[in-house]
Amino acid sequence: MTTLNINGQVRTVDVPDDMPLLWVLRDVVGLTGTKFGCGIAQCGACTVHLDGAAVRSCVLPVSAVGNKKVTTIEAVGATPAGRKVQQAWRDLDVVQCGYCQSGQVMSAASLIAQNANPSDVDIDAAMSGNICRCGTYPRIRAAIKHAAKEA
Ligand code: FES
Ligand code: FES
Repeated sequence: MTTLNINGQVRTVDVPDDMPLLWVLRDVVGLTGTKFGCGIAQCGACTVHLDGAAVRSCVLPVSAVGNKKVTTIEAVGATPAGRKVQQAWRDLDVVQCGYCQSGQVMSAASLIAQNANPSDVDIDAAMSGNICRCGTYPRIRAAIKHAAKEA
């Protein structure tokens, strides 16, 4: 049995130690807002927060989570940075198909929480692992700057 703190709730799950956190979130706990893209840490669709840091849940064994708090797209709006990022995403109408956007929002929220005034270089460093096949990158960059201004 593995005990996890997910979005402020303690959840005990009966899964193999090496099961990726993404599988646990989607298939065991039923939180399907976090997406499966590549499964090899190359696209960012599966990004969640561990104690506020953006991580790729598709390659993180559930046994490695330990006591760290897991936050997913379902609850990031309850954090100050997540709320600002989600509002900026709405204000600038960032989303196209939407598939990558849970991961984009999670990476952006982690960035804003740690850096209230990110430069283009900071944004590139934080967001370069999040791929968008619809090419929403210019709106993502603008929305991060918009969110930072509000923060
Ligand atoms: S699904 Fe995890 S990085 Fe692509
Ligand atoms: S909005 Fe379609 S993949 Fe990013």
